[in-house]
Amino acid sequence: NNKPKNIVVIFGATGDLAKRKLYPSIYNLFKKNKIGEEFAVVGVARSELTNEAFRENVISSVTKNVALEDRKNVEKFSEHFFYLPFDVTKPTSYEQLNHLLTDLEGRFEIPGNRLFYLAMAPEFFGTIAQNLKAEGVTNTDGWTRLVIEKPFGHDLPSAQKLNDEIREAFAEEDIYRIDHYLGKSMVQNIEVIRFANAIFEPLWNSRYISNIQVTSSETLGVEDRGKYYEKSGALRDMVQNHMLQMVALLAMEPPISLTDEEIRSEKIKVLRAMRPLTEEDVNNTFVRGQYGPGVVKESEVKGYREENNVDENSNTETFVSGKIFIDNFRWAGVPFFIRTGKRMALKSTKIVVQFKDLPMNLYAKKGQKNYPNLLVINIQPDEGITLIMNGKKIGPTSETTRVSLDYSNDHVNDVNTPEAYERLVFDCMLGDATNFTHWDEVSLSWSYVDAISKVWESNKEKNFPNYEAGSMGPKDSDRILDEEGFHWWPIVKNEY
Ligand code: BG6
Repeated sequence: NNKPKNIVVIFGATGDLAKRKLYPSIYNLFKKNKIGEEFAVVGVARSELTNEAFRENVISSVTKNVALEDRKNVEKFSEHFFYLPFDVTKPTSYEQLNHLLTDLEGRFEIPGNRLFYLAMAPEFFGTIAQNLKAEGVTNTDGWTRLVIEKPFGHDLPSAQKLNDEIREAFAEEDIYRIDHYLGKSMVQNIEVIRFANAIFEPLWNSRYISNIQVTSSETLGVEDRGKYYEKSGALRDMVQNHMLQMVALLAMEPPISLTDEEIRSEKIKVLRAMRPLTEEDVNNTFVRGQYGPGVVKESEVKGYREENNVDENSNTETFVSGKIFIDNFRWAGVPFFIRTGKRMALKSTKIVVQFKDLPMNLYAKKGQKNYPNLLVINIQPDEGITLIMNGKKIGPTSETTRVSLDYSNDHVNDVNTPEAYERLVFDCMLGDATNFTHWDEVSLSWSYVDAISKVWESNKEKNFPNYEAGSMGPKDSDRILDEEGFHWWPIVKNEY
């Protein structure tokens, strides 16, 4: 059988990410029989816990979505879980870990394959990677891989430092940097829509496309993540990774094959072709915002500055929009508009590709409008695509009208998709790095984003808060499109 056989070591086993995403994902893989019996999960964290107590945690984090009759299965699943109290700075912790892993490999007949998942604060990533190597935990007959969560640094220099540290212990091809947007079904579908359909790819360029809009709006505020978010802001939290990855997938050339190397090399070319931003570009074509109090989904909510662990005069942005140019043959002159923010009107991630108008509108004499053709890729919560066209109204009339061709999956994905993690964790076990970010992508994204934050940091005057919770962000965000003769397409389905 070709099921992966490995041990997953989770650093930060008692943390939020492990409980909300990782245990449910691994359980789903188990339930669907994608992993057999030859697997074990070792949780490590600071606190003293017994295996039994740890298993109870795991059980309670997966049973929320599990039917009663599956309870037996969950218990069977939890028997693959082991816990080790751990101090990431102490060599003895790593020695104990190594013994436990060797012992479990014997017990579960696992051939020395070890996946180290760092689901914890990034300040220890380097220490852990280096200690794993120094204490021989990476020295096995099978493979060893390192999975890391964001934030991957705070800017290019810190990311570079972090990368150097982990690269001392792991080769680039064994490092899996998670960008959970790359695990979303419809993000993965961008490639298929583009490269498996004769009707789109020939039009996918500056001759036929006038602009592309990528929006990822959230209704949530910063919740309990004020401390992290204060230092990050929307630019680092969303743009550096998820937004630029979507832009890269939309803009890349067809790869010569679907291997991770080929896809990555096309994405890298896009990131390299993004027009560098001058201070003037940042001031004129990027907009930052911060939410004030308002009403979201019919409930009153506080402003960002009133949130827990947030400075009452905070200058952190919770909204970013901007215009990106990709200076290559395919895209010269076509703006890619991006927009993301917290506490907006609606939770939605959507891509709108707007096609150029025809040379003339034959129906204008009859007082009728030609609407621009739009290809809308709905990433979440609804998943599917919508093609907006012009047609004649049915019946005894010559009026034209907008028609929409809709393909949508019934399946509704809500926040932070556990499915995305399920897919990504499985990919790591299989050794498929296609949906992870390579260092070259991370570093190029950082240098793009650093140019923006540098200007923003030197200019503290922002008049925050500047948008009401429950709105679509600051007014200024419309200006960047107005100037080009465009406007943001609504993100509510079928309201184009
Ligand atoms: C994370 C950010 O990477 O993505 C969060 O750190 C954000 O701030 C989240 O809420 C959004 O993910 P999703 O899957 O809900 O769109």
